[in-house]
Amino acid sequence: MYATAFLDLPPLTTAGGTVQLPGSKSISNRVLLLAALSEGTTTIYDLLDSDDTRVMLAALRDIGCTVEPAEQPHSVRITGLGARAPRSPARLFLGNAGTAMRPLTAALALLGGEFELFGVARMHERPIGDLVDALRQLGCRITCLGNEGYPPLRIEHAHGVPVLALQAPIRVRGDVSSQFLTALLMALPLVATQQDLHIEVLGELISKPYIAITLQLLARFGIQVAHENWQRFTIPAGSRYRSPGRIHVEADASSASYFIALGAIAASAEGQNGIKILGLGLDSIQGDIRFVDAARAMGAQVTGGPNWLQVQRGRWPLRALDLDCNHIPDAAMTLAVMALYAEGTTTLRNIASWRVKETDRLAAMATELRKLGAQVEEGADFLRVTPPARAADWRAARIHTYDDHRVAMCFALAAFNPARLPVRIEDPKCVAKTFPDYFETLFSVVQTAPQHIPVICIDGPTASGKGTVAALLAQRLGYHFLDSGAMYRITALAARRAGLSIDGAHEARVAELARQLPVRFDGARVLLGADDVSDAIRTEEAGMNASRVSALPAVRQALVALQHGFRRLPGLVADGRDMGTVIFPDAPLKVFLTASAQQRAERRYNQLISKGFRANIADLRADLEARDARDSTRSVAPLQPAQDALLLDNSLLTIEQTVEQVLAWWQERQPFAPRAPG
Ligand code: DC
Repeated sequence: MYATAFLDLPPLTTAGGTVQLPGSKSISNRVLLLAALSEGTTTIYDLLDSDDTRVMLAALRDIGCTVEPAEQPHSVRITGLGARAPRSPARLFLGNAGTAMRPLTAALALLGGEFELFGVARMHERPIGDLVDALRQLGCRITCLGNEGYPPLRIEHAHGVPVLALQAPIRVRGDVSSQFLTALLMALPLVATQQDLHIEVLGELISKPYIAITLQLLARFGIQVAHENWQRFTIPAGSRYRSPGRIHVEADASSASYFIALGAIAASAEGQNGIKILGLGLDSIQGDIRFVDAARAMGAQVTGGPNWLQVQRGRWPLRALDLDCNHIPDAAMTLAVMALYAEGTTTLRNIASWRVKETDRLAAMATELRKLGAQVEEGADFLRVTPPARAADWRAARIHTYDDHRVAMCFALAAFNPARLPVRIEDPKCVAKTFPDYFETLFSVVQTAPQHIPVICIDGPTASGKGTVAALLAQRLGYHFLDSGAMYRITALAARRAGLSIDGAHEARVAELARQLPVRFDGARVLLGADDVSDAIRTEEAGMNASRVSALPAVRQALVALQHGFRRLPGLVADGRDMGTVIFPDAPLKVFLTASAQQRAERRYNQLISKGFRANIADLRADLEARDARDSTRSVAPLQPAQDALLLDNSLLTIEQTVEQVLAWWQERQPFAPRAPG
C-alpha cells in the first residue's frame, strides 16, 4: 500500500498481463457459512483475507466444522456439518462482522444448542432486533445479554432441537438491513424438510442486488428459492444443503471495472492479448458486472468464461455513450474517466446516488475531470463529459481524492493521456477500503518507455548522507530505491569469498561474478543467495574493498544492467557516485551531495559509536579522504558531479532539511500547475 502524501503516476503507454483481484467480502462470508452447513467438503478459492472472514472461520471451527488450508493461496477446505448438530456449548467472537453475526445467529438458533455470540463494542451497537423477533416468532429462544435488540446474544435450547412453528409465513422487516433477510434465507433451508417455508418482507426491500447474490449462492449449494416481486420468498420442502465441491469467491465487480477500462484504453503490450482478469467471470452474480456491457459499447473487446475475463482495446478512440447508470452506480465512475478517451460527449444519467456516497461523487468527478482539461457539465443527477479536443489541451493534474477509494482508483487511468503527462493522485492510501494493493496491481500490468519513469540521482562522496537522504526521499515519493554502493560492496564480498583478487588480477572473473550476482533486497535486508549479508557489507573494510573493486572497468560495466533494472514504475531514487553521469544520464533531477571532510568524518564516527564500534575521528577522516581520492581519480566513471547536477553542501543541514530541499527541487520540476494560494 502507498502511504505517501501523493503518488505521481508517470505517463503510461501499454498494458498486458494478468491480475488477480481480491475476493468480495460479502460473497466470502456467505460461501463460508453455506459450506459449513452443507453435507460434504467444499474447497473455496480466492477467499478474501480480512478481519471479517477470519472471525467467521474461527467460529465455524468452534461449532465443529473442519477447516483446513487448501493447496493454493487464498483457498480453504471446509467439511460441513451436514446432518450433525453443531458442537455446543460455544462462545463465538465475531469482531465487527455483520456478515457473520446475523446469519450465524439465525442458523444456530434453528439448529439448536447453547451459544453465546458477541463482538467488539461497535458490534454491540449494531441492531439485530428485527432478526431476533423473526426467530422468536418461530419458537427460538434468544436472549439479548446487553440491550434488547442488540448483541451480545445467548441462544439456548438445552434439550436439543427447538420445536419450531413453521406453518405461518415468517415475517421480517426489509427496510433496515437486507442482511436480516439474507440470514433467514440461509438458515431456513435447514428446517424445510417437511413443508414449504414462506418469508414475507415487511416494508420495501432495500439492497435487492445483495439478496440476488444470496439467492444465487443458495442455488450453488442446492437450494432453489422462489420469490414474488422480492416481497414473498418460498423455500421448497425437502431442501437440503449439498456442497458444490469447489467454489470460487468472485472478485468485487466494481474493482474489476478499472482493469476492464485499462484493457479498453491501453494498447496491448507486445506479445500480450491485453488484460486478463482472474476472479470474476461474465456469469458473475454481482450487479456491477453489467459494466462490461457499457465498456463494450464504448469499444472494449471483452471475452470471458467462468472466473475470468479478457479485455483488449477494440475501437479506438472509444465511442461516446449516453447511458442510464442506475444499475451500475459504483462502476459508472470508471466510465466517466473512460469518456476522456472517447470521440464526442459522454452522458451518464440517473446517478443522483453519487451525491450521498463516500463524498459527493458527482461534484468530485466534475471538478477533477475539469482539472485534466475536459469540459464537464454537472447536473443534479447526470454528468456530461467532453474530452480535451487535442493532446495539447490535456493538463497535468493533482487529483484530489476526497477519502474516496473509487475516485483514486478510476483517475489512475488518466495516466494514459496522449499528452504524456503524469497524474498526481493525492492520498493514495484511501484505496485500502476495498483494494489496498490497487496501485501495486496496476503497476504489475502497465508499461511505459523507460525515459518516462522518473529517476532522482543523489551522488556524492562517502558519508555525505546520500544513502539516508535517498532512502527517505524514496519513502516520501513511494519510489523504488537503489543503493548502488551496495552492489559494489556485495561484489567485493562475493569475490573475496570466491578467493578472487579485487585489485585487477581477476578482473574478468570478478566481472562475471558481478553480472550474475544473486542479490535481493528485502526491506532493509540484503541477501546474497540465501545468505543475509546486510551487516557484512556495512563494515569500513567492506567499503574500502568496494572502492577497490569499483575501479575495475569490467566490473562497472557488468553492473550496469542490474542497476538499470531498478528503474521501475512509479519511479526511482538512486544513490551512488555515477548515477547522474553514467547510469541514468537522462534523469530529470540530479543532486550532488557533499559535506566537508571533517563533517563527514564526524558523522561516520557517530554512526560507528552508536553501533558500539570503537572509532577515531582522525583515522576516519584520513580513510575517507583516501577513498575520495581513489573514487575521483579512477579512469572510469570517477566521482564528479554531472554537468546538470545541483550541488548541495549539507555540512550545516540536518537530514530532514536536506530531504526537504531535494523535494522542493523535485516539485519545482513537475508540470503540475502551482497550487492556488490559500
Ligand atoms: O556508497 P558506498 O560507500 O556504499 O560505496 C562503496 C564504494 O563503491 C565507493 O567507495 C565507490 C563505489 N561506488 C561506485 O564506484 N559507484 C557507485 N555508483 C557507488 C559506489
